[in-house]
Amino acid sequence: MPSALPLADPAPSDGLLPLSVTDDAADRRLGIYVHVPFCRVRCGYCDFNTYTSDELRGAKRTDYAGQAVEEIALASHVLEASGLPERPVSTVFFGGGTPTLLPVTDLAEMLAAIVVAWGLAPGAEVTTEANPDSVDRDYLFALKAAGFTRVSFGMQSAVTHVLATLERTHDPERIPLVVAWAREAGLQVSLDLIYGTPGESLDDWNTSIDAVLAQHPDHISAYALIIEDGTKLARQIRRGEVATPSDDLQADMYELLDRKLDEAGFRWYEVSNFSRDADHESRHNLAYWQGHDWWGVGPGAHSHVGGVRWWNVKHPAAYADRILAGLSPAAGRETLGPETRRVERVLLLTRIRSGLALSELGDAGRLAVAGLIADGLVNAGAALRGSVELTLRGRLLADAVVRRLLAE
Ligand SMILES: C[S@@+](CC[C@H](N)C(=O)[O-])C[C@H]1O[C@@H](n2cnc3c(N)ncnc32)[C@H](O)[C@@H]1O
Ligand code: SF4
Repeated sequence: MPSALPLADPAPSDGLLPLSVTDDAADRRLGIYVHVPFCRVRCGYCDFNTYTSDELRGAKRTDYAGQAVEEIALASHVLEASGLPERPVSTVFFGGGTPTLLPVTDLAEMLAAIVVAWGLAPGAEVTTEANPDSVDRDYLFALKAAGFTRVSFGMQSAVTHVLATLERTHDPERIPLVVAWAREAGLQVSLDLIYGTPGESLDDWNTSIDAVLAQHPDHISAYALIIEDGTKLARQIRRGEVATPSDDLQADMYELLDRKLDEAGFRWYEVSNFSRDADHESRHNLAYWQGHDWWGVGPGAHSHVGGVRWWNVKHPAAYADRILAGLSPAAGRETLGPETRRVERVLLLTRIRSGLALSELGDAGRLAVAGLIADGLVNAGAALRGSVELTLRGRLLADAVVRRLLAE
């Protein structure tokens, strides 16, 4: 089951934001995330806020687009009433769950509501995640016609036994087909991979990397498998039915990935994200890491506007109830103080290629940089230019680097 929500203050039922969110707002971009909380089956490793049809407790997929459109109207009203300047939307991201489980007309309806509410900035990036077995050629062409610019396929692996351990249902042979259709439709293509699955060898991973590169995508995300508490995979590992992933093997896999992607002309711009050039980085994800504003629509979606962060009720039935009653679906929210905002910047900016300004660090953090350079985790030349930038080894140990920078 999905994990629990954080604890914080209750959110007001009208969703209105404090005046403080207007500070420096003109310097921040606006992005919209739409969460689509449905999957046909749940993969054994996944604890995302998503529900199969028998977990919906009366909520209906067919009602969802209309509810999301209501929240988009609320968002437009709240942002305006809070005194924020009018800003067209720079990036839109439909994630899940499986957005493409909905009819493409539903995705088009939600995107149209976003365009009506704010308009799109010139060159706006509009992405949807897609499960390779939930789209066909017509669907991808209809996405493009509706205004989507980019599709991110959950490929995960090209190796049958790895996909089986992950309980992925798609046939790996379908990847070249869906990628070709997406390109033909004029969509940019990103592929998601997972490495370090129990039973996956370095050779298996090499096969998956080659398969991804053979598709010439614009963008690749590669995530180390996280064993999330409460998932079926975590139970299988606890019972000894599948092996525990090895940290050393995951590190070897990341090094292989980095080398092969570099040789193929891809460059990393965030620890788990690579693009074929700067124009194909995911601007939506960069906006999260760089502290811009985003509104998250849908059950369990998180939002951040000018240092105020909130999250919606998680279950689609609870979400539907709130929307039907004309109330904000927010379950809780918090206003981040200056120190929390600084800590978050250290956490997020350290993981991106452009790095973190040394001036963001406290005395202890600045002292830690010398040790991190000596340990080969941080780039010495960049530090001289006033920036903390990770080396390859630093990317492998990014969480430990952040702890040292925060002097924990
Ligand atoms: C919401 S899913 C992607 C869309 C679609 N539902 C799919 O799976 O094809 C986003 C991505 O998160 C990654 N992911 C999910 N659970 C993960 C875990 N436990 N460890 C590492 N990556 C994970 C997967 O690569 C997945 O493609
Ligand atoms: S399809 Fe994607 S969101 Fe759905 S359960 Fe699998 S990984 Fe999670």
